[in-house]
Amino acid sequence: MSDQHQLPGDIRKLWPSEWPKFRDHLLRLDKASRRMRFAHGVSDSFIEDYAARMVDMSGIVYGYFEGPELRAAAELKKLGDTWGREAEAAFSVEQPLQEHGIGTELMGRVIRAARNRGVQHLCLSCLAENGKMRAIAAHFGAELRFEYGEIIGEIIPAGPNYFSILAEAVEDRFGYMMAVLDLHNRVLKAA
Ligand SMILES: CC(C)(COP(=O)(O)OP(=O)(O)OC[C@H]1O[C@@H](n2cnc3c(N)ncnc32)[C@H](O)[C@@H]1OP(=O)(O)O)[C@@H](O)C(=O)NCCC(=O)NCCS
Repeated sequence: MSDQHQLPGDIRKLWPSEWPKFRDHLLRLDKASRRMRFAHGVSDSFIEDYAARMVDMSGIVYGYFEGPELRAAAELKKLGDTWGREAEAAFSVEQPLQEHGIGTELMGRVIRAARNRGVQHLCLSCLAENGKMRAIAAHFGAELRFEYGEIIGEIIPAGPNYFSILAEAVEDRFGYMMAVLDLHNRVLKAA
């Protein structure tokens, strides 16, 4: 079993002002990973539009950071204006860091965030040939079905409880500190 804890980085939520890091991470995905992430090959301009739109959708993006750089991301997207019964998740890990357990860790965060927002059906879709994503989905008990060359995974998160809400809140406080430190370092470097 791969283990994210042996890696030097941290996982935290992205703040809306950090969307350029999300864009830069997606732009660094190699050709094969881009295809796996978006189910078809995509250009740089597609990624730039996509990352900019993600801010407006006010979803949640968890990131794996090594220093200031975002190297992996997990998106939890609402399907309407507010959090409802269903939400969608998507994952991207830069190629050199794949198969070190980051995708699995991110999935745990996304399921907890969905749970804390009352989501009852978390959907993820990936190409049928995406063995890694299928392995992670199965690890979290997803029900997988095959549709037109894609696999649709459905996870039914447990309802929120005191511990799941507290765990997210505690992590967010730490994440906020890390984001502020990163901003501080960037300001110092620019001065
Ligand atoms: C898919 C992706 C998110 C997985 O993240 P990751 O950090 O590489 O995955 P992890 O290391 O957490 O776990 C991968 C699991 O798949 C298993 N695996 C690896 N190759 C596999 C294969 N060909 N078939 C089946 N399982 C495989 C690993 O053994 C591991 O399982 P384990 O933890 O039980 O050993 C990442 O590889 C990625 O970003 N790929 C490109 C984009 C993408 O495919 N996104 C998903 C669609 S939204």
